Amino acid sequence: MLYTFFNYKEVELFERKIDSEVPDVIKYFDISVVIDVLRATSTIITALSNGATCVIPVSDIAQALSLKYYNPGYLLGGERGGQKIEGFDLGNSPFEYDEKTVKEKTVILTTTNGTSSILSASRIAQKVLLASFLNLSSVVNMLSGYDAYTNIAIICAGNNGEASYEDIQVAGAIIFGIVRKRSHRLSDSSIIALKLWESLKRPDFSGEHAHRLRELGFEKDLEFCQMIDHFRLIAKFENGKIVKIG
Ligand code: MLT
Repeated sequence: MLYTFFNYKEVELFERKIDSEVPDVIKYFDISVVIDVLRATSTIITALSNGATCVIPVSDIAQALSLKYYNPGYLLGGERGGQKIEGFDLGNSPFEYDEKTVKEKTVILTTTNGTSSILSASRIAQKVLLASFLNLSSVVNMLSGYDAYTNIAIICAGNNGEASYEDIQVAGAIIFGIVRKRSHRLSDSSIIALKLWESLKRPDFSGEHAHRLRELGFEKDLEFCQMIDHFRLIAKFENGKIVKIG
């Protein structure tokens, strides 16, 4: 089954459901792929590609500050409402995570939806990957390659409990790539994502959060995050850290 979640709050509901129905099932999916194309997963992929050692996702600001306190050498990044958090080293724009800034550094990151989505994903799946348009083909190849997975969750971070038009496009593009190589049973949510991508065929960043980012002056981020296959990179979340594979 290839199942798509339209926002990470749905993952929390799913988690409660499987806990009550099948308490001994710890990780339901073989693998999950988390998407927050605007902008957390695009930023994390960029940071790793520019040489960051790892990214530690945390859900709240207090936890991020405490981690920084005990590890002053780490970079502290994140946003709320799209804006850099006061006292943090970096915001959530991929352009802030350039080689000069992040090479050989550990980054602590907290964002409104993206980092919580990654943490939720790790509770329902044995493996967790991160996806964006920037590393689309790498993700598709991994999911449909030698290790081909059968039970896959695609988790869109969404927008404060709502669907995100842009995240669903990435989900659709991934599903499009996978089903061309191997047949999969698709959930209704996966069919919706696939049909959206088949009708668009290219990124269309005109959803609510894209508008908000435009208003905040992040037009360049929107252009950057639409670049398909800008990086060849797989990022996985394991033991509390996001690292690149290979
Ligand atoms: C999030 O986690 O909600 C986003 O990455 C927000 C943003 O665009 O910075």
